[in-house]
Amino acid sequence: MKGVILAGGKATRLRPLTKVISKQLLPVYNKPMIYYPLETLIQAGIEDILIVVSRDHAGMFLELLSDGSAFLQDIRKLEGGDKYCDIKLRLSYVIQEEARGSAHAISLAENFADGDRIVVVLGDNIIQDNIKDAVDRYKMQKTGAKIFLKEVDNPQSFGVAEIREDKIIGVVEKPNTPPSNLAVVGIYMYDNQVFDIIRGIKPSERGELETTDVNNYYISRNQMTYEILQGWWGDGGESFDSLLNAGILAANEAKQEK
Ligand code: G1P
Repeated sequence: MKGVILAGGKATRLRPLTKVISKQLLPVYNKPMIYYPLETLIQAGIEDILIVVSRDHAGMFLELLSDGSAFLQDIRKLEGGDKYCDIKLRLSYVIQEEARGSAHAISLAENFADGDRIVVVLGDNIIQDNIKDAVDRYKMQKTGAKIFLKEVDNPQSFGVAEIREDKIIGVVEKPNTPPSNLAVVGIYMYDNQVFDIIRGIKPSERGELETTDVNNYYISRNQMTYEILQGWWGDGGESFDSLLNAGILAANEAKQEK
C-alpha cells in the first residue's frame, strides 16, 4: 500500500489565513497541519507517500519536509528521540496545476501508485485513531474501496453516508437534509480501479471532480466497505472554528501523551 496526501486546493473558506500560505501548512497546535496526516499514514505502516501540492506552495512543502528526513527530525525533537525510528519514509511530490477537486488530485497519483492500492488522506483531516488495523482489514478485501465514517453534529458540511441494515447504500455531498449524521471522513482506501473511475466522472455543481462520486461508483458496484472512527476527528479546513477546534484536540492529545 502507498499513501497519498492531498494538499492542493485554494482553501477559500479560510481566507485571509490562506492568502499567502497553504492551508495544510497552517499551525495546528505545535505542528504544521500536514504533519498529522503524515503521521496517520506512518502509524499505519505506510512509508511511500506522495504529496499533491499546488504550484504556488510546492517550494514551501519541499523546504519543510524534504524527502521526509526533515519531518522525522522535527517529530523527534518535539516528541522524543526515537519516534518512528524503524520507518523508512520516502516522500514524493506532484503539482496539481489547477484546483479541480479532490478526485482530480487523486488522478495525479496514477504513476506513483504503479498498480498498487492507495490510502488517500485529505491534508486537513486530523484524527485520533490509529488506522493500522483498518488498513490491514482492507488489504484482506479482494477488490474495491473502504472509507471511514464519523458521527457529527453538522453533517450538512460534509459528505454524508446513507446506511440501510448496516450496509452503505450511498453518499451525498453536503446535503441540506442529511440522510444520517455519519459524515465521510477524508481518508479513503482505493484499489487501482480508482483511476479509471475518475476518468469516467463529471465535475459537480462546484465545478470539481468529487471523491463522493468515486465513492458512489464503488458503492453501486457493491465494492465499498466502511468503518466508524472511534476517536475524535478534526477537519482543519472546514471553517475558522473547525481549525481552532482541531488545534485544541491536538493540544489535549499531545499533553496527555507527555
Ligand atoms: C471533502 C469531501 C467530503 C468530506 C470532507 C472531509 O469536502 O468532499 O465528502 O466529508 O472532505 O473533510 P471538502 O473539504 O472538499 O469540502
